[in-house]
Amino acid sequence: AIDPVRFIMNHSSGKQGHAIAAELARLGADVTLVSGPVALPDPPGVAVVRVENAREMLAACRAALPADVAVCAAAVADWRPKETPLQKIKKEAGAPPPAIRLVENPDILRTLAADGPQRPRLVVGFAAETEQVVAHAAAKLRRKNCDWILANDVAPGSGTFGGDRNAVTLLRRDSAPEPWPPGSKQEVARRLAGLIAEELGRG
Ligand code: CTP
Repeated sequence: AIDPVRFIMNHSSGKQGHAIAAELARLGADVTLVSGPVALPDPPGVAVVRVENAREMLAACRAALPADVAVCAAAVADWRPKETPLQKIKKEAGAPPPAIRLVENPDILRTLAADGPQRPRLVVGFAAETEQVVAHAAAKLRRKNCDWILANDVAPGSGTFGGDRNAVTLLRRDSAPEPWPPGSKQEVARRLAGLIAEELGRG
């Protein structure tokens, strides 16, 4: 929130995260979906926790632990306005536009993936990139200590951010990037849920 009537958002729809929650539940997982403000119905068979901002999302994710797997698909705001006035910011005649000072939000994926007794066995992130998609995603995988990351091309014209289709490349630690055929967000979710089930079955 910038003030009680204005806010900062991005083009993400939440469709990919909701589809993953639905597919994991379909495979029999006990799923908690922590969702930001999206215009989507709750997927069937999933416990849904609705949040408004990054700090609430982190608190809700922590409250959902312990978990075998964490999948972080939310396009979390990296920054938030430092102050949120209680009243609407008014235009003053002749005054310059107000400056909005930003401070950093917590990184939820990084927090959940940090080594510790509560770390899920498998932590999966997404990387939204507009250039050098795989290289940037590989750096993110290491920086955030996750096990898998789905590199997502969100360059203008790709149609993925907010749309119904997705084109991703799966990166796992120490193995070659696996580009997946472009498909619907549901197809991407189904493939990911299948791999997660396989991985958990292995151990
Ligand atoms: N993420 C998160 N908390 C944040 C920011 C991002 O949990 N405050 C997670 C996203 O859910 C995603 C991953 O981190 O799984 C990468 O998010 P992305 O927006 O691609 O990258 P950033 O970390 O924001 O880095 P940059 O903006 O520099 O690309």
